[in-house]
Amino acid sequence: MVVRGGRPTLPPGPPRGAELVESARSVLSAHWQEAAGGGYTVPNGAVYPFQWLWDSCFHAVVWAELGEPDRAVAELTHLFRTQGPDGFVPHVDYEARPQHHGDFWGRPGSSSITQPPMYGHALAELGRRGVEVPGELVQRARAGLGFLLRDRARLAGSGLVTLVHPWESGADDSPRWDDWCPDGFEPARWYQVKGDLLGTVVRSPAGAPLANPAFEVAPAGFNALLAFNAFELADLSGDDQLRVEAVELAEALARRWDPDLRTWTDAGGPGRSGSVRTLDGLLPALVDPAHAAEAVTEALDDAAFGGRFGPAAVHRAEPSFDPRRYWRGPAWPQLSYLTWVAARRRGLAAEADELARRLVAGAWSSGWAEYWEPDTGEGLGAAPQSWATVALLVGQAP
Ligand code: GLC
Repeated sequence: MVVRGGRPTLPPGPPRGAELVESARSVLSAHWQEAAGGGYTVPNGAVYPFQWLWDSCFHAVVWAELGEPDRAVAELTHLFRTQGPDGFVPHVDYEARPQHHGDFWGRPGSSSITQPPMYGHALAELGRRGVEVPGELVQRARAGLGFLLRDRARLAGSGLVTLVHPWESGADDSPRWDDWCPDGFEPARWYQVKGDLLGTVVRSPAGAPLANPAFEVAPAGFNALLAFNAFELADLSGDDQLRVEAVELAEALARRWDPDLRTWTDAGGPGRSGSVRTLDGLLPALVDPAHAAEAVTEALDDAAFGGRFGPAAVHRAEPSFDPRRYWRGPAWPQLSYLTWVAARRRGLAAEADELARRLVAGAWSSGWAEYWEPDTGEGLGAAPQSWATVALLVGQAP
């Protein structure tokens, strides 16, 4: 890949298989950071020069796919470097510059909130690819999921796990959080609110984030990923207790399906923004078979989320839909990938193939961007961004 002015220039036309693989390898290799015990991959060298939790889980699976099991294992090992005694895994590791944002997070070295615990899926995928997964990594992942399942506050009456901060969802500026922004969403005001919300997080003696009385919401998307990762780790390790807890969470989620809106909805929150139709709200398709087919249909339908280059992150009929704005409408590679996983696991083979085709087309035409315009494939945000290489995992060339 040629990089000019910070953006990669890709050859025109659809990639052939080997071209796609080698281009992805060059992106990840350029973003690899050597560190004690191995290393990790930054999402983007300039915009995101640290280790992010859910990004690294996707990177690890791609490293395994590329035939680099040592990097796959090293990336996940490094992810747990900052894990606390309660099992809590911070969402950013600032090892390269430990004082960065230290005042903001109230501690040096790492953030003080978490992100979707994709490490259950990552380890299971490594196992499926024949990578020898160290027992200690399984224990670390179990402790991370255990913290969320056991210590994190549940929203009364819902059975679902709460977030302590919108950033924990991984979808920072999603319209799902608009009820918390005074007078509606506006980036500068929202930035201020996000800062203020950190101040009300209730923590364990060791600093792990347990609850936030100023942000009481149990999102469908985050709970779906928690349950899914618990199922995945239970599959890898044979942990029956973990499977029981995953089943309970999946059953609680199944009660959140709204047949009129054709989405799962969040529990809690001061108003209706937890029912805004966003793509992460369809992720319970990973663990709720009853409505998975409807959800995947929504993701592909041009009148709902569907786009030539993958599902938009926000339903097109939502007033907040904006196909170019961060978290308010573009297509995101990791969400396309997870929707593809859901389709595959539910036996929706034709839909999975279509999602795969669109993901590869988007990743390629955007120049491996962080996210892209769902109808044109124009790259948006940082580029190249490591997680766009999940396009390699869907086994398709356009
Ligand atoms: C942005 C995204 C978050 C991601 C991070 C690094 O903050 O909202 O989900 O983990 O970038 O890619």
